Amino acid sequence: VNGQIVIPVVVNVLYRTTAENISVTQIQSQIDVLNKDFNAQNSDFSSVPTIFSGVKANVGIRFELDQVRRKYVNRTSWGTTDLMKKSTGLTPLTPTTKLNLWVCTIGNGILGYAQFPGGSSSTDGVVVDSKYLGTTGTATYPFNLGRTATHEVGHWLNLRHIWGDATCGTDLVADTPTHNTANYGVPTYPHYSTCSGSPVEMTMNYMDYTDDRGMNMFTNGQKTRMLSLFAAGGARYSF
Ligand code: ARG
Ligand code: ZN
Ligand code: CA
Repeated sequence: VNGQIVIPVVVNVLYRTTAENISVTQIQSQIDVLNKDFNAQNSDFSSVPTIFSGVKANVGIRFELDQVRRKYVNRTSWGTTDLMKKSTGLTPLTPTTKLNLWVCTIGNGILGYAQFPGGSSSTDGVVVDSKYLGTTGTATYPFNLGRTATHEVGHWLNLRHIWGDATCGTDLVADTPTHNTANYGVPTYPHYSTCSGSPVEMTMNYMDYTDDRGMNMFTNGQKTRMLSLFAAGGARYSF
C-alpha cells in the first residue's frame, strides 16, 4: 500500500448510567491518541530508550471518527463474550471496511479486548471500557491516556502480546526482545529478562501490560506485521 492508510472508526456506545454515555469530546480524545501513537507523534515518543532508537516506528495509520451510535441498555456489565456486538447491544456497521469500537462497562477489571484479523465480521472490532477510553471525561488513572485502545487496535492489526502469552514466549516479531512475562505498573528502566536473546525488556512497548504512562512505542517489525494486512487480498481495508 502506498501512502497513508486511513481507517474510519464507528464508535458504538452502550450505556446504563449517564456517566457511561460518554461525550463526543472524550471519544475524540481517543481518536487523537490513536493518531498520535500510530504516527510517532505522541509526546512521550522521545522517551524511548536509546537502545531502541533504531527500531522505534512511525506506523503511519490515520483514524477518522466516522460516526457515534448510542444505545441505552439496562445492563451493569457486558463481559468478554461479544454480547455487546449482538442485537442486545449494537451490531457492527460495515466491519469489512471500518473499525468498530464498542464502549461499555466490561467488568472484572478488564480494560478492553479485541478480535484478531481473520475472524467473523459479525464480531470484528475492539471493545474498550468507558472508564479507560480517551484522556478526559470518565477516563481513569492509571489508564487515562488512551493506551488501552492503542493496545487493542494493535491486536486488531494482528499484534500479539510482547511476551507471547507464555514464559519467554514469542510475539512473532523479530525486533522486539523476548520477555519473561507481562509487566505491570511502570517498570524502572532497564528491566532485565532471563530469556535468551537481548536481555533488556521493551516494557514501554504498547503490547506489554504497563500503565498508560509507561508505554510509548511500536517497533518497525510490528509496523511491518500490521501494514502487511493492507496488501491486496489482505485482512484489513484502507481508504
Ligand atoms: N486487554 C488488556 C486488559 O484488559 C488491555 C491492557 C491495556 N493496557 C493499558 N495500559 N491500557 O488488561
Ligand atoms: Zn492485549
Ligand atoms: Ca520478539
